[in-house]
Amino acid sequence: MRIDIVTIFPSFFDVLDLSLLGKARDAGILSVATHDLRNFTHDRHRTVDDTPYGGGAGMVMKPEPWGEALDHVLAGGESGLTASAAVLVIPTPVGEIFTQADAHELAAEQHLIFACGRYEGIDERVTDHYAARMRVRPISLGDYVLNGGEVAVMAMIEAIGRLVPGVIGNPDSLVEESHEDGLLEYPSYTKPASWRGLDVPPVLLSGNHAAIAAWRHEQQRVRTRDRRPELLAGLPGEAGGNRDTHP
Ligand code: ADE
Repeated sequence: MRIDIVTIFPSFFDVLDLSLLGKARDAGILSVATHDLRNFTHDRHRTVDDTPYGGGAGMVMKPEPWGEALDHVLAGGESGLTASAAVLVIPTPVGEIFTQADAHELAAEQHLIFACGRYEGIDERVTDHYAARMRVRPISLGDYVLNGGEVAVMAMIEAIGRLVPGVIGNPDSLVEESHEDGLLEYPSYTKPASWRGLDVPPVLLSGNHAAIAAWRHEQQRVRTRDRRPELLAGLPGEAGGNRDTHP
């Protein structure tokens, strides 16, 4: 998978050299390039923002540097991929909420381009222009506001990258995770069996695999009901997080 990131803080993404994603890059499974938006400005101050039409607080990112930067990435000398193969992801608090399903969907793509906005966001015409040329996904990490898209892109790349085949050595570890079956994951324990007066649930020491599986599933339901009741609503056979039916 090819990943291009356009940002005014390219060094923010140096951490992608580390850990599993760094190994995946070394192995040629992921290829990540950052592009400094300011390299696509032409004034002495390398200006990327301006005041909003219509007034209001904050600054808006100018369309011209974005157009030049994204055209450069799409011209793709480096990748040889075309716009039709690419998805432009725009992190924004006004986007659709990012889920594990989105991570799976995007992990199957050949080429992702992330456009990290700052300030009050990017001039809306950038989204409109590229939406006419390619697939564009405005995506929010959650219902809160970050100072810019970089942290959101980092989180998305980690969530997506680990699902790309070959990135995680043991793919079985991806199966029983939170959000894979619509429920939160069950609690996990390791040695010692007793720690500070707290014992590991005896069923996990029983060796009875059916009992362990049943206990874990029940823990998933209880956790999800208590912490994320709205997730239960979407599951077949569940009563929408109704506490009366799941005591
Ligand atoms: N940029 C600012 N806030 C954001 C959010 N919640 N999600 C994604 N990108 C953002």
